[in-house]
Amino acid sequence: MKPEPILELRHVDVAHGKTPVLMDICLEVGRGEIVTLIGANGAGKSTLLMALFGLPRVSRGEILLDGQEITRMATHRIARLGLAQVPEGRRIFPGMTVLENLVMGAADSAGDGKVLERIHTLFPILRERAGQRAGTLSGGEQQMLAIGRALMSKPRVLLLDEPSLGLAPLMIRRIFQALREIVDEGTTLFLVEQNANQALRLADRGYVLVNGRILLEGRGKALLANPEVRRAYLGGH
Ligand SMILES: Nc1ncnc2c1ncn2[C@@H]1O[C@H](COP(=O)(O)OP(=O)(O)OP(=O)(O)O)[C@@H](O)[C@H]1O
Ligand SMILES: [Mg+2]
Repeated sequence: MKPEPILELRHVDVAHGKTPVLMDICLEVGRGEIVTLIGANGAGKSTLLMALFGLPRVSRGEILLDGQEITRMATHRIARLGLAQVPEGRRIFPGMTVLENLVMGAADSAGDGKVLERIHTLFPILRERAGQRAGTLSGGEQQMLAIGRALMSKPRVLLLDEPSLGLAPLMIRRIFQALREIVDEGTTLFLVEQNANQALRLADRGYVLVNGRILLEGRGKALLANPEVRRAYLGGH
């Protein structure tokens, strides 16, 4: 049985200007689940994550967070309700220190020592390098920092846009291991990825986005074994 949804999209359409990008997206993320949306370059994955925060605007359909409609809510209100995003390309502040980057992620004045402690336990490198400029971190460490920064707001649902992009396999494994721990501690995860193999291994359930439409959905393992998915996203073997 699926857990009760904490994030739900009902027949959502999104356009960039006049160009339709997402069509009739129906998707559910259950409380405590890891759900992934996989899709090729340009399928509309980042657009979908950004639309959850109200930009670009949803032209049809509804988005619900824990049963409450957030479709046309202001971005800061949505964030306050418990949604946080790790954006594509990390977007850390390279000239600021590691610690300053983390503190930037804390909602309002909620610079809660416990959350920082939890992030430092999850990614010890962020403690070791606390006073160092963030731009000097490796790509994988910057990804850890971006995840840590998003966790500072104590989100109920964490959204991640291609966290594995450009990282070596060992680093991807470490980051995905940390994502598993984050979920075990009670956060729900929705991640979009081109790296279908890793994402479907981690996820409870997955959706396949092709040209702005959901083509398939299923258990992570079932999608991994699906010949169509294997052919299109896993190099056909
Ligand atoms: N700001 C924008 N204005 C107009 N069109 C855009 C904008 N951003 C994205 N698009 C278009 O929307 C479509 C979906 O783009 P999107 O970035 O959501 O894809 P993606 O699945 O995240 O791709 P990638 O895997 O390369 O990150 C593409 O055709 C893209 O060219
Ligand atoms: Mg993208």
